[in-house]
Amino acid sequence: MEIIYASNYEDMSRKAAIAIAQQVIKKPTSVMGFATGSTPLRTYEILIEFHRQGIVDFSSINTFNLDEYVGLPSNHPQSYSFFMFKNLFRQIQLDPSRIHIPSGTASDLLQECAVYEEAIQSLGGIDFQLLGLGPNGHIGFNEPGTHLNSVTHVVSLSQETIKANSRFFSSLEEVPKRAITMGIKSIMNTRKIILLVSGEKKAEIVHRTLSGPINEEVPASVLQLHPNTTVIIDQSIL
Ligand code: GLP
Repeated sequence: MEIIYASNYEDMSRKAAIAIAQQVIKKPTSVMGFATGSTPLRTYEILIEFHRQGIVDFSSINTFNLDEYVGLPSNHPQSYSFFMFKNLFRQIQLDPSRIHIPSGTASDLLQECAVYEEAIQSLGGIDFQLLGLGPNGHIGFNEPGTHLNSVTHVVSLSQETIKANSRFFSSLEEVPKRAITMGIKSIMNTRKIILLVSGEKKAEIVHRTLSGPINEEVPASVLQLHPNTTVIIDQSIL
């Protein structure tokens, strides 16, 4: 793993946006994996600036998102689909046919997972995956205990994650209890990973991610085994 210490959130975001821009300029048809959460928000704003300035043409990329809440339709303001269209896709004018996000309202969730995994394969796999870090070490929604061999699957969210994500909902009860997420193996199969680390209460978990034992208790620790991962840390949180 390559580890880059950014001086603050803005610096982390700019470094990530530049890495994404470089990827798309080098390979305009890149298959990009995107993440939700507060951490990548500024990165997405900078990408939108690059698009508006004509620095990067995103029109030929395909995208896959890591995860989606079960039960929230794509027009629900807290769905990850809504988040991505609002904070990135609509603003870079990406054709919806190029955007892939698991449907949390599919009638057959297991089939939805299988179809999603197949869609990733049929486009040749993900070239570049952006990741955030959950306060308990989760990546996507792969909670502690998730099998390292997992592909896209349905998960029950931990109490800790439900509580952490309740800040976006009006009450704890409104937070969905399940989600669809790309698995650890799906993430490990991506060719290049950038893990962004910022936000409160991440100092201990980032330490365990980077230098702790590799095990299912800290799902992100498996990234130590990925051949092409860069971790960009907002060092103001350390
Ligand atoms: C959610 C998402 C993750 C994200 C994490 C951290 O649980 N499923 O993909 O990385 O939150 O969020 P934040 O960036 O807001 O700390």
